[in-house]
Amino acid sequence: MTRAPRARGDVHLVRLDPTLGSEIQKTRPCLVVSPDELNEHLRTVIVAPMTTAGHAYPWRVPCRFRRRSGFVALDQLRTVDGERLVRRLGRLEPQNIATVLQRLQENASDPAVAKYMTWTPHRTVADTKEFLSRCERVWIEGSAFPWSLWYKQDGAFVGLIEVRVRASAVDLGYALARRWWRQRLMSEAVTAMVEWALAQPTIYRVWATCDVDNVASARLLERVGMEREGVLRRWLVHPNLSEAPRDCLCYSIVKAG
Ligand SMILES: CC(C)(COP(=O)(O)OP(=O)(O)OC[C@H]1O[C@@H](n2cnc3c(N)ncnc32)[C@H](O)[C@@H]1OP(=O)(O)O)[C@@H](O)C(=O)NCCC(=O)NCCS
Repeated sequence: MTRAPRARGDVHLVRLDPTLGSEIQKTRPCLVVSPDELNEHLRTVIVAPMTTAGHAYPWRVPCRFRRRSGFVALDQLRTVDGERLVRRLGRLEPQNIATVLQRLQENASDPAVAKYMTWTPHRTVADTKEFLSRCERVWIEGSAFPWSLWYKQDGAFVGLIEVRVRASAVDLGYALARRWWRQRLMSEAVTAMVEWALAQPTIYRVWATCDVDNVASARLLERVGMEREGVLRRWLVHPNLSEAPRDCLCYSIVKAG
């Protein structure tokens, strides 16, 4: 049997049923997102279902296809056998394709974001699920409080900030998706956290460390009013740079008086 050609960016009508629970149903247009090297060699294809219904959730990329406005539902991404592809409907606008690919690339799988972090880029959905379970666990234990950050105007996911409370001190960790860098967004989030922490009667110190080479993070900590205390030698392993612990800059701000 000859296989219908499929290319990343093409829209195919895909038979999604049978489905379970909240999985998106029916035979509907889906965007092919798997790279062409895979599409050439595998029977399966990775697709993002499209819908005209619903709201602009962060993972739903607005698009126009065949004169109708809708969304590419990245939250419903799935791998399907080629047999589910009914026919090719056309190609999405280049601008929409670029946005979808950018959304897939950013966040926890972006090596540039992870470079100075204590984790490596996520490779599978299971990695991200494990990370999210950890977020839930630490929150319940009260050992750390991770917050996700969302852009007010369009509800897009921007990044994460985490505070860890140890006795009378709070330390911070944070990361922004790359397309949001250098817009003062993390300065805003860190400032809010510092103000909140120092307003608590039991908290006297807010601090953060960053790799000695992480210029952006060091500059950010200075910008929000923290002072450099010094270098913590061989303090943290940043596995994307080396297996051995690296020197880190230590910054803090403390309660006056
Ligand atoms: C570190 C990070 C959160 C900075 O966030 P940001 O929102 O881009 O920072 P801001 O726009 O608030 O900028 C704060 C200051 O840092 C400077 N800055 C930001 N990125 C910079 C860079 N790559 N090089 C030099 N300076 C930089 C800004 O110019 C600004 O300084 P200014 O007040 O003198 O203009 C972001 O780069 C990031 O997420 N990096 C990857 C993850 C990471 O390293 N997290 C920190 C681990 S310790």
